[in-house]
Amino acid sequence: MSIQSDFFRDRVVVITGASSGIGEQLALKLPVHGARVALASRSGDRLEELAARIGAEGREVLTVRTDVSSEPDVDRLIQTVRERWKRIDVFISNAGQYIQGSIEESPPDRFHASLAVNFFASMYAVTRLIPLMSAQGSGSIVFINSLDAKKGIVGDAPYAAAKSALDRYGDILRQEVREKGIHVLSVYPGRVDTAMIGHIQVPRMSPKISPGRVADAVIRGIRRKKAVVTVPGLYRPLGAGNDLFPRVFDRLYKWFRLEGRVR
Ligand SMILES: NC(=O)c1ccc[n+]([C@@H]2O[C@H](COP(=O)([O-])OP(=O)(O)OC[C@H]3O[C@@H](n4cnc5c(N)ncnc54)[C@H](OP(=O)(O)O)[C@@H]3O)[C@@H](O)[C@H]2O)c1
Repeated sequence: MSIQSDFFRDRVVVITGASSGIGEQLALKLPVHGARVALASRSGDRLEELAARIGAEGREVLTVRTDVSSEPDVDRLIQTVRERWKRIDVFISNAGQYIQGSIEESPPDRFHASLAVNFFASMYAVTRLIPLMSAQGSGSIVFINSLDAKKGIVGDAPYAAAKSALDRYGDILRQEVREKGIHVLSVYPGRVDTAMIGHIQVPRMSPKISPGRVADAVIRGIRRKKAVVTVPGLYRPLGAGNDLFPRVFDRLYKWFRLEGRVR
């Protein structure tokens, strides 16, 4: 469903992980709503290609090659956007990596690597965004989380542990910055058809959804100042269900092989 509104007109939106998947869809869709977009990821060439497409439509776009697990890089990203447009209205912390491994076989380094990109990257940005958005008196911070933070999938501990940390961090941040006029949105997608899980074949009962559908849900969530968006919405009761009946959900996940199969 396309969303028409003036909400994003001239707003400055930063998207991390814009070179692929959900981030790429956000990068293509938000300018159509009138946003000025700053695109960040490690692969500069891919960002330049996207920027050329967006610029050809007469939209304002900026690319900043960034490794979000590096605090100085995140600092530079935010500085560069501020120098160009003087403000940041929306920051979408989307960059992520699906770092898997059984707990028994995963060395601590694997957890550190996952936390670096899937948790600390967001924290580096937030530290800089709070004073900036407080001074503006407005702003939205968006975390692209995962349903893995609501119910862990066997073999996903490094990824799920980082996303779970981000889950609670976002929950508390939302409460702490509300009175400064800052909106915080956490987004929980199910399986999405992107390069990240291209190696995984999922069971028919939990099909991969398109990254465009997730991007539309994110855009709607920002516009409506939602606290939480789960996509598909059908999975909304998952966290509460697992808290109440963890063993039932363990069995359901195992029975339906929801971890999927490596191709
Ligand atoms: N796919 C799913 O099933 C699924 C489900 C739930 C949640 N999510 C979440 O959705 C978000 C987007 O993932 P996706 O599915 O769109 O995957 P994707 O197509 O693999 O895109 C991941 C993006 O993150 C960027 N990235 C990775 N490491 C980075 C780093 N250190 N610094 C900067 N950018 C980095 C990648 O760009 P470069 O490689 O160019 O840096 C790429 O643009 C992630 O947070 C993911 O956890 C995905």
